[in-house]
Amino acid sequence: DRKPRVLSGIQPTSDSFHLGNYLGALRQWVALQDTADAFYMVVDLHAITVDHDPKVLHERSRVSAAQLLALGVDPDRSDLFIQSQVPEHAMLAWILGSETGFGEASRMTQFKDKSAKQERTTVGLFTYPILQAADILLYQTDQVPVGEDQRQHLELTRDLAIRFNTTYGQTFKVPDPFIVKETATIKDLTEPEKKMSKSSSGPRGVLYLLDEPNQMRKKIKSAVTDSEAEVRYDPEKKPGVSNLLNIYAALGHTTIEKLEAEYAGKGYGDFKGDLAEVVTDYLGPIAARTKEYLADKAELDRTLVKGAEKARQVASRTLAKAYKKIGF
Ligand code: ADP
Ligand code: NA
Repeated sequence: DRKPRVLSGIQPTSDSFHLGNYLGALRQWVALQDTADAFYMVVDLHAITVDHDPKVLHERSRVSAAQLLALGVDPDRSDLFIQSQVPEHAMLAWILGSETGFGEASRMTQFKDKSAKQERTTVGLFTYPILQAADILLYQTDQVPVGEDQRQHLELTRDLAIRFNTTYGQTFKVPDPFIVKETATIKDLTEPEKKMSKSSSGPRGVLYLLDEPNQMRKKIKSAVTDSEAEVRYDPEKKPGVSNLLNIYAALGHTTIEKLEAEYAGKGYGDFKGDLAEVVTDYLGPIAARTKEYLADKAELDRTLVKGAEKARQVASRTLAKAYKKIGF
């Protein structure tokens, strides 16, 4: 039988993805390629719903795509593209917007959180979940890998698909959530009670995939721990050390139990020194490959144009169906 179709997107909102993005999402993108027919996109249409800098957005999208290739998204097996190069996303979003109740859209809690942080709130930020529904439904997606924070948006997508199919006749596959296997949230290195995020404390607490090895070493050496000297996993009482253990286990292909045994009786200095080597050994090659992809501008553009063309073949069929059903 045919492999389930999977779709996922990531915003090009900073110059580099961080380790939280990688361990919480992008690592799964790579793994899913074995079992799924995957569509992966850099969602620049979503990025403009909050303040953005037009001088850097295009380059950020390309750097994002280069990082995805570097960390293992394989354009021969998956479709990698930039959302704005596939106009069907905005076109289907308009149709779905006309099928969404205002009250229904107003119930989206992420809008409330995000708009509270903005000086100026846009209608685009409000209708963001409708664009997300279009992203998913255009590809007749079977499964959408989501974290807990996206559950409500996927529910809206399902409601819209079911309603459209009921009103106008079968048009969209109703997608299921695919809850990715539990990955601990990666915490900020300087404020380990907060999640690592591009918008958190400041660059010192965030490990970026494109950091220089020496920057990574410095950040790990200055990571907040505690006044004990015991490498023990206890997220409540020892959030800093526990976060470092999570990172070490994930990138060092080992377990927290083994690490606790290995560092019994040793101080944090040894532990952090070894972790710095594990992190730079793992991420260094990703950064180097990203630079290679960016160095060959023409080849990267060809890959992305091909990806967008392949995406449009699927997306335009779905849009044509929806247009016809709507009466256009
Ligand atoms: P940020 O928090 O830096 O703004 P995004 O919200 O753009 O990151 O997240 C993109 C993806 O990365 C999402 O799937 C999200 O769940 C995942 N992610 C982001 N930060 C972390 C983290 N600290 N730990 C685990 N996963 C994360
Ligand atoms: Na965020």
